Amino acid sequence: MKIIREINEIRRICRDKKSLGFVPTMGALHKGHLSLVETLQKDCYPIVMSIFVNPKQFGKNEDFAKYPRDLEIDIKLAEEAKVDMLFIPSEEDLYPDDYRTYIDVEELSDKLCGKSRKGHFKGVTTIVLKLFNLIKPKVAAFGWKDAQQGIILKQMVKDLNLDVEIRMCDILRDSDGLALSSRNNYLSNEERKNALSISQALQLSSKMFASGVRDFSVIKKKLVEHFNSFSNTNIEYIEAFRIENLQETDFLEKGVIIAIAAKVGKTRLIDNWRIGE
Ligand code: PAF
Repeated sequence: MKIIREINEIRRICRDKKSLGFVPTMGALHKGHLSLVETLQKDCYPIVMSIFVNPKQFGKNEDFAKYPRDLEIDIKLAEEAKVDMLFIPSEEDLYPDDYRTYIDVEELSDKLCGKSRKGHFKGVTTIVLKLFNLIKPKVAAFGWKDAQQGIILKQMVKDLNLDVEIRMCDILRDSDGLALSSRNNYLSNEERKNALSISQALQLSSKMFASGVRDFSVIKKKLVEHFNSFSNTNIEYIEAFRIENLQETDFLEKGVIIAIAAKVGKTRLIDNWRIGE
């Protein structure tokens, strides 16, 4: 695996690669990231992964400083997963002092997670477009856990006529159901138990849907009661929205996602269920 830190070098090496697959990450790699690599390996070569904890997508009171960083372990995991090139740029190179340009996907970026994380998606779309420009992937893989992020990136690709396929991959879960996330590292044993409230709520939604409930307000009421039985767990939102445009809906059917954001202790976690998946 080649490790590349310089912008000019990654641009030079990736030039003219017709079937390059790209997995952007912020490091703290887990099986979810590695499954994105595996998915792309089926039809892409080479596979480039980037590791960059992007300061522009963290709000002032968020966890940028304490975001888990362990480059040594990440390099080992990427190597084991047979990533061909690992791009680890520096903050100074990507955002020099005179940096001025941002990409903002209007409306979609203000909903759901965007309500409490102002500017977050603007930071995400800006860094992802910068990385796309340097790496020029044919396909880039993202996880369905960050459904809103994927939907916004698809909109960006469409609006800017970018020549890249955004491939969304299934959520990976621990055996107890907790969706894999680098932020799970923050949870104490007690908090981890409470964090299961989120995937359990989605299972409950799926059961109610299977039993014929189609009115989201009925399910939401039940989920609020469910969360009340967990201590130290605060719902930020429970929403149902259409995949294609993030439009909120009360009618549940295929093509709708039920998404939850909740704080367990100080850790903000998200998870979702795509109806029919
Ligand atoms: O999903 C993430 O890890 C980040 O938002 C991404 C896409 C790597 C951009 O920093």
